[in-house]
Amino acid sequence: MLAAALRALFLWLSNRRWMARIALGTPLLRRMPLRFVAGTTLDEAVAAVQRLNASGASATLDVLGESIEGRASADRAAAAYVETIERIARDGLDANVSIKLTQMGLDLGVDACVDVLEPVVKAGDQAGIFIRIDMEGSAYTEQTLEVVRRLRAAGHDVGPVVQAYLHRSAADVEALARERVRVRVCKGAYAEPPEIAYQERVAIGDSFVTLSEELLRADAYPGIATHDPEMIDRVITFAKEHGIGPERFEFQMLYGVRRDLQRQLLEKGYRLRVYVPFGTEWYAYFMRRLAERPANVLFVLRSVLGERS
Ligand code: FDA
Repeated sequence: MLAAALRALFLWLSNRRWMARIALGTPLLRRMPLRFVAGTTLDEAVAAVQRLNASGASATLDVLGESIEGRASADRAAAAYVETIERIARDGLDANVSIKLTQMGLDLGVDACVDVLEPVVKAGDQAGIFIRIDMEGSAYTEQTLEVVRRLRAAGHDVGPVVQAYLHRSAADVEALARERVRVRVCKGAYAEPPEIAYQERVAIGDSFVTLSEELLRADAYPGIATHDPEMIDRVITFAKEHGIGPERFEFQMLYGVRRDLQRQLLEKGYRLRVYVPFGTEWYAYFMRRLAERPANVLFVLRSVLGERS
């Protein structure tokens, strides 16, 4: 009960711009996201990726930001991604990028968003770097998949995320698996109503495993994005039973979350990609991490207050 109420509170806060302004403008609060965000600059993010690569993990870089207000800020965000892709190539990092389309002007329409993405996907093509399109709230699902379809039809190496809590994901994955599109499967991080999304942990977990199995069967190199040991065990068992080797999929986890599990998977010979967010626009991302695990609040408060004293 309490956990559900806290989850709803943090998801509500994640959309409050006034709260974001306070958090971003208060020096003490600015230290809060350090556990989940690699830093505010590309240099700091690159250093985090180098550490991950040295440990055997690959990475996906996320230049934080979402729901921009106009074309100019979308173009600026796109330029930051171009810079990131060029840096990955220059430094020889084992990494790709993850992009939220609301940051690339999706609110201005699918055409405008595809336009904004043009320099990013070109940079990706040139560097041979895959581009992951993150999935946001359900108001954007259809448009996001449409952008992915259009970019793929134009020959760009991009792939979407599907959220196991959405009822529609079974049909989406069926279509994506048919074309062997490289998909990331996750449970889903937004507040969605029961008409369109499973609410129960068991139903979400079963959907997660079913979607993962379908993509594994299609040999589509899925990204299995979860920190839930039960999901991980079920996917590993399925892969073993069907003779699917560890080179045919990868696990994915968030920076700063379940580092113990991250290490264990690498030690067992599985591929692991860590999602590394960086930048100053950390507020909404951080609030969703608190929503997933309200106990993080205590952890974060302790580290902020501890550092201060
Ligand atoms: P679950 O929430 O059941 O957590 C399992 C265990 O993991 C917990 O018991 C705890 O130990 C640990 N844990 C989970 N979250 C934690 C946290 N925030 N802090 C500390 N411990 C935590 N969602 C989305 O809607 N669109 C997207 O594009 C993406 N992209 C994405 C990429 C990657 C690489 C990952 C790992 C996740 C996403 N997500 C996402 C988020 C995803 O939908 C989901 O909200 C979280 O992964 C939490 O779900 P789990 O599967 O980890 O299980």
